[in-house]
Amino acid sequence: MAVYASFRSIGAYVPEKILSNSDLEKMVDTTDEWIVKRTGIKERHIADEHISTSDMGAMAARVAIERSGLDKSDIDLIICATVTPDYFNMPSTACIISDKIGISNVQAFDISAACSGFVYSLTIAKAFIESGMKKNVLIVGAEKFSSIVDYTDRSTCILFGDGAGAAVISATTNKSEAFVDIHASADGSYADFLVTPAPGSVHPANQKMLDEKLNFVQMKGNETFKLAVKTLTKDVVDILKNNNIKPSEIKHFIPHQANYRIIKAVGDALGMKDEQVVLTVQKYGNTSAASIPMAINDIYESGRLKEGELMLLDTFGGGLTWASALIPFAPKAK
Ligand code: ACO
Repeated sequence: MAVYASFRSIGAYVPEKILSNSDLEKMVDTTDEWIVKRTGIKERHIADEHISTSDMGAMAARVAIERSGLDKSDIDLIICATVTPDYFNMPSTACIISDKIGISNVQAFDISAACSGFVYSLTIAKAFIESGMKKNVLIVGAEKFSSIVDYTDRSTCILFGDGAGAAVISATTNKSEAFVDIHASADGSYADFLVTPAPGSVHPANQKMLDEKLNFVQMKGNETFKLAVKTLTKDVVDILKNNNIKPSEIKHFIPHQANYRIIKAVGDALGMKDEQVVLTVQKYGNTSAASIPMAINDIYESGRLKEGELMLLDTFGGGLTWASALIPFAPKAK
């Protein structure tokens, strides 16, 4: 009998501390009006100093596992998508999360696809499950983005926030619960649009790295913006067309939450109604790999996401990477 991947549960962790636009007005030469007008962001959440990416990932993971109705020992693969790992080399953040949530003897690894990391992880979970290698995959998108942001650089520090989201993807034989389609891609010729130059093999950690602030994120904002609108729109147009689905049939359009103007441009190009488009950018900012699962969790916790409803995920990020997915929400049958 054929086995399919299904989206069984969602969870998230949002740090308590809020960094508002008026806080940022005191730190750099910016205004609440500029930030809201250009990005739609009003505030973002920032993790305390002692909280790591794996701490946030573990908290989101516990919620997702609890909601899946599974025992944690049923999880047979853990993937963590992050560009702000606990450690830049090793161990992986997924390994640390496995220990924090008390799952031992499990395959665990990280992936690096920036803001596209969560949807990239969904492609991997699907492949593992549908090949019969794994049954219940925990995927985590977690970022302590504040650890790579230069809070003297007004062009980037207004954009990003911290947080984590997690999902359990399980095997099913029920085709109506299965992922409808998923697609991921990249174009490395745009690698310099979004980069944290150090530490790494190109620029190992040294005094120069600190003096030149190479450990902070650098972004060609305007170029990234234009490419994001173009790529995100093409990606969703293609996935809908390939599956003979009209935009009006999508219950929840959940794009990467980077900038309200990007989301609006893509939504308008597709003719999406406001009630179809999930928006969290105003309160979380851009949380990179955590952005989409945090947004899914928001509609789940507010009671908007119901069994069988079709989600259209669409993401874009450093690499450059992009990905889209058509997935029904398939919680454990009551
Ligand atoms: N406050 C006030 N003025 C500012 C600020 C600020 N915080 N930041 C920049 N400006 C100024 C610039 O200096 C510039 O001034 P100038 O005209 O005198 O030179 C002016 O505002 C316009 O700057 P732009 O960069 O052209 O502004 P833009 O409208 O493009 O908005 C932004 C910048 C918000 C960064 C936008 O380009 C953007 O959202 N880009 C996309 C980011 C994104 O989608 N990333 C996705 C992936 S993220 C990941 O993978 C981790």
